[in-house]
Amino acid sequence: MKSAILYEKGFLDGIDIQESSIPDVQSHQILVRVQACGMNPVDWKGVVSGFFQMPYIIGSDFAGIIEKVGDQVRSFQIGDEIMGSLEWAKQGAFAEYLVTEEKYIASKPRNLSCIESSAVPLASLTAWQGLFDHLKLQSGEKILIQAAAGGVGLFALQFAKWAGAYVVAVASEKNAAFLKSLGADEVFDYKEDFSTLPADFDAVFDSMASSEQTIPLLQKGGRYISITAKPNPELATKYGITASNFLFHSNATQLLNIAKLIEQGMVQIFIDKTFAFTEVKKALKYQQEGHSRGKNVLVIQHTAE
Ligand SMILES: NC(=O)c1ccc[n+]([C@@H]2O[C@H](COP(=O)([O-])OP(=O)(O)OC[C@H]3O[C@@H](n4cnc5c(N)ncnc54)[C@H](OP(=O)(O)O)[C@@H]3O)[C@@H](O)[C@H]2O)c1
Repeated sequence: MKSAILYEKGFLDGIDIQESSIPDVQSHQILVRVQACGMNPVDWKGVVSGFFQMPYIIGSDFAGIIEKVGDQVRSFQIGDEIMGSLEWAKQGAFAEYLVTEEKYIASKPRNLSCIESSAVPLASLTAWQGLFDHLKLQSGEKILIQAAAGGVGLFALQFAKWAGAYVVAVASEKNAAFLKSLGADEVFDYKEDFSTLPADFDAVFDSMASSEQTIPLLQKGGRYISITAKPNPELATKYGITASNFLFHSNATQLLNIAKLIEQGMVQIFIDKTFAFTEVKKALKYQQEGHSRGKNVLVIQHTAE
């Protein structure tokens, strides 16, 4: 099988597409014939910073068809169409086949293709965990969502509206009408001065390390969560708010809930670009530019076996 492997950190051009044998499964494992891989900033960040142990197959998100199951696998069978995200620390999705476990996958939403499904797991789980596990967002609350037109932001916006929140979406002007069409109550241009916004927010979901600008917008008792930089604790104390950051974790139960919302039409998937597997370097460079509207996907064309 072919996979995208990194041997040495530093440059996206250092990634090789290489041939190796298809992995076998242990009793609790599942072999997936991958059809598409959703892309996330961690894919290129891992290459540039080298924070995963090398060599490794890059990538977290995938969708595909189950090819083989171990004898202790209970909820899935050969032929099932599934989506999932590998554990953050392990990686290994950008390949024709991968091995995973029941706790990381959910059935593909019936109304989505494999390409669309592969764009769901990591970004949607990050949005879900940030809004509901960490911020504990409630109906009627006012929330600011940073980078609302990005991979995570579009899920966060749609989940927050589904939960009944009042959403101020931060984006550039070109995305304002699009975000309003998805229910954003207000759109704030990130090139403007954040201090012109009223300081009456209950919650901030920050994917841009903007705590210096956005924590002062919270009312006393407000909650701030970052999916990037750790917020300054002195700032949190000064404004009387709680502030933290977190790393997403792959979670099949939450992914199944998200799949149901997608099937009910409550949440839409937006693909910016698709790339062939052979274009993986080009795809990572595009993702690295940081101006995608929604998600980018690698489409895996299987070679003859
Ligand atoms: N902690 C975790 O577990 C976790 C999980 C997922 C992601 N992350 C991190 O969260 C960040 C966002 O991830 P993502 O997948 O949403 O990225 P993404 O899809 O690449 O984000 C692209 C979006 O960011 C917007 N943007 C660019 N510069 C901006 C700025 N200065 N202010 C506000 N918005 C800006 C772009 O808008 P324009 O095109 O209009 O410029 C675009 O809509 C990344 O740093 C990623 O590594 C962390």
